[in-house]
Amino acid sequence: MELLDGKKIADKVRNEIKQEVELIKSNGGKVPHLAVFLVGHDGGSETYVGHKDKACEQVGFKCTILRFEDTITEEKLLAEVKRLNQDSDVDGFIVQMPLPKHISEQKVIEAIDPKKDVDGFHPANVGRMVVGFPSYVPATPDGIIELLSRYKIETSGKHCVVLGRSNIVGKPVANLLLQKATPGNCTVTICHSRTKDIPSITRTADILIVAIGQAEFVTADMVKEGAVVIDVGITRVKSDKTKSGWKLLGDVKFDEVAPKCSYITPVPGGVGPLTIVSLLKNTLKASKREVYG
Ligand code: GUN
Repeated sequence: MELLDGKKIADKVRNEIKQEVELIKSNGGKVPHLAVFLVGHDGGSETYVGHKDKACEQVGFKCTILRFEDTITEEKLLAEVKRLNQDSDVDGFIVQMPLPKHISEQKVIEAIDPKKDVDGFHPANVGRMVVGFPSYVPATPDGIIELLSRYKIETSGKHCVVLGRSNIVGKPVANLLLQKATPGNCTVTICHSRTKDIPSITRTADILIVAIGQAEFVTADMVKEGAVVIDVGITRVKSDKTKSGWKLLGDVKFDEVAPKCSYITPVPGGVGPLTIVSLLKNTLKASKREVYG
């Protein structure tokens, strides 16, 4: 069994990006510029946005955080999004989710110019990804592909089972592994809350990707010997064994599943560290006009 070390790969990719930014700068080019909308004071969002800001600084990107109170109207936020669409200094931007209940996340996503949608959430980017055109790929699915690619895990002809059908993980990662590409060329099955007898399906998986947000859902009896297991879950639970009083659990019961695997991601330190790197990759692509020309 080998651990898929997301932190190690994330450091490596970050370094590659940093070197490219140095080259751009030394050639007198424009420094990539990411902007982040942060609405309200959601604790998780504050933390994530802080990490994104720090990651930009590390690789030499410019990062602008646009803060708004949670009383902002939908109309005003949409106007701000449109303003950034027109701001030629900003290469790409994201609107950190969740948004306050009175604002439609879908409307906000659709207001973003697809050329600047470095989250890859706009239907234009989702569609382009599905048909195999260049696109901005959402962070978590891209992180999974990066892990499989850097560890040179064979995917062609393999049966990949995805647990979860969310728009930000399950659906896109299933689509990416279905593509005629490397990694890709998988036979893909997606399971969800209404799927009958999930264990009978997961037991046939060569590659099992779990993104359902239920701590330790996948147990050893659900996994085939030699499978590659990618765990996207992170649930914070109380613990009397850690200094902080909390610990993080994945969607996979790691201790009993790991011995059966050829490769498995730890939680934390698996897919998580790669998600911010994916945002950096997309911002660099945006600044180079790589996706839409
Ligand atoms: N909230 C949780 N994850 C994400 C993400 O990847 N992008 C945005 N914009 N909001 C999020």
